[in-house]
Amino acid sequence: MLNFLAKTGQSAYFLRHKVLTFKAGVTKIERYNIVIIGGGPGGYTAAIKAVLQGAKVAVVEVAELGGVCLNRGCIPSKALIASAAQYVKMKHAESFGIKLAAPPVYDWTAMKARKDKIVGTLVGGIGQLFKSHGVDHIAGFGKITGPNEVTVHAEDGADTKLQADNIIIATGSRSATIPAFPFDGKRILNSDHLLELDNLPKSILIIGAGVIGCEWAFMLSMLEVEVSMVEMLERALPMEDADSSKLIERELKKLKVKFYPGTKVESISPGPDGATAKLSDGKTVDANQVLVSVGRAFNTEDLGLEKVGVKLNKNGSVKTSADMRTSVKNIFAIGDVRGEILLAYTAVHDGSVAVDNVLGGKAKKNYLGVPSVIFTHPEVASVGMTEAAAAEKYEVGVGKFPLRALGKAHAENEIAGEVKVVGDKKTDKLLGVHAVGVHATEIIHTAALAINRGLTVTQLGNLIFGHPVISESIMEAAHDFHHMSVHLAKKKS
Ligand code: NAI
Repeated sequence: MLNFLAKTGQSAYFLRHKVLTFKAGVTKIERYNIVIIGGGPGGYTAAIKAVLQGAKVAVVEVAELGGVCLNRGCIPSKALIASAAQYVKMKHAESFGIKLAAPPVYDWTAMKARKDKIVGTLVGGIGQLFKSHGVDHIAGFGKITGPNEVTVHAEDGADTKLQADNIIIATGSRSATIPAFPFDGKRILNSDHLLELDNLPKSILIIGAGVIGCEWAFMLSMLEVEVSMVEMLERALPMEDADSSKLIERELKKLKVKFYPGTKVESISPGPDGATAKLSDGKTVDANQVLVSVGRAFNTEDLGLEKVGVKLNKNGSVKTSADMRTSVKNIFAIGDVRGEILLAYTAVHDGSVAVDNVLGGKAKKNYLGVPSVIFTHPEVASVGMTEAAAAEKYEVGVGKFPLRALGKAHAENEIAGEVKVVGDKKTDKLLGVHAVGVHATEIIHTAALAINRGLTVTQLGNLIFGHPVISESIMEAAHDFHHMSVHLAKKKS
């Protein structure tokens, strides 16, 4: 547990927040319908949903409420990305007809303070919600010590035994390391370290061009850090549609990010001001610091899982069925720790399913229409199948609409990007929608509903969209699927 606290660096939490703690050495026994281990988006929302339905619930959390998403992931990174985007917008003020008295200058310390304030407000908000709904928040490291028992070890050494009719494991994930280059927090960093840097480096090498790698590559290069990025697969954001990757690589190039696809880092040697990385193609890259963003590892250690018979998958995540039950009937697992989709919002869905089943329901997960939202600049969002995946099962057709053909995109001075609609030519079934561009992460939800409800491409295109809005690009791309977009030049036959 101490190891875990050191990893998360959150032990000061106990001093700052009013939570249930017990005197050192005292064993106190409390009884609950549900004990949830982990207070991230999956755990805390499940707790509130359960008390709303009459259950007595405790959430055991070793660090801050809100988990990675709120403290070290989604929210702090989006706060900094918003600052970087504002800085770039101010640099281009003249294109909006605004003359600044002096060029804008950013202040990383102030940006971080803004981020910390936002996080603090939201974490406090969860504490207030717990209080108002009557969820017990128990500070400490929770270990399953029996099928109906969780023992909480607090920072002051006290152990509390919680009797639980049901247990929900919501312990999440952490940055995966590359064993050859372990994190040292100085030269070799994960995204948690980046959020807390006192000063931004002059240059950085990012290993892994997935979601975290790309979001940071844009943010840092927008703040004038020299960025190099290495990806072992053939393209940036390899899980997205190939056309989205192409567009995003073009934007990375505009920001002078040096991108090395199909490449691995073989060694990193420390130098006086940074490190030199040797790449698998023989090239070398010098950088002040290195960010490793190559996926996540699951927080299943020291939880007592083996002892009670909770089985793990090969990759170390907890094995669950579609009702979120583990191999032990009254023990459930939700969110990242299940290893299926590592997103805050699917964790919330998992939590609902688990709570329904704890309370006697027969709920199963339904991931149809889960959007992907990536906060690069421009943003990337998608729902459903990529064109390549759809082509394996269907007679695929596509419709496309570039943002530069859209009035609202010009008004916002954000014309980079495109929406692509993928459908089945035979049945007109809508299979996927892929958006790159300003507000892509917002507009995608129209498409998500369409996919979730099994609409056709025609039905999506026939919705009357407001004007002028960026979402019109979805309607136009749907019309283009049938060669019927009135705002595109006639296609050559
Ligand atoms: P990721 O799985 O998205 O990307 C990791 C990338 O690293 C992959 O493209 C992989 O091919 C590459 N890679 C792996 N080993 C490598 C090596 N040795 N050398 C070079 N490249 C290598 O994982 P990431 O970016 O660390 O994100 C972790 C999780 O956090 C993801 O599951 C993501 O869904 C979630 N997340 C979601 C966000 C969002 O929804 N906006 C934002 C940030 C994270």
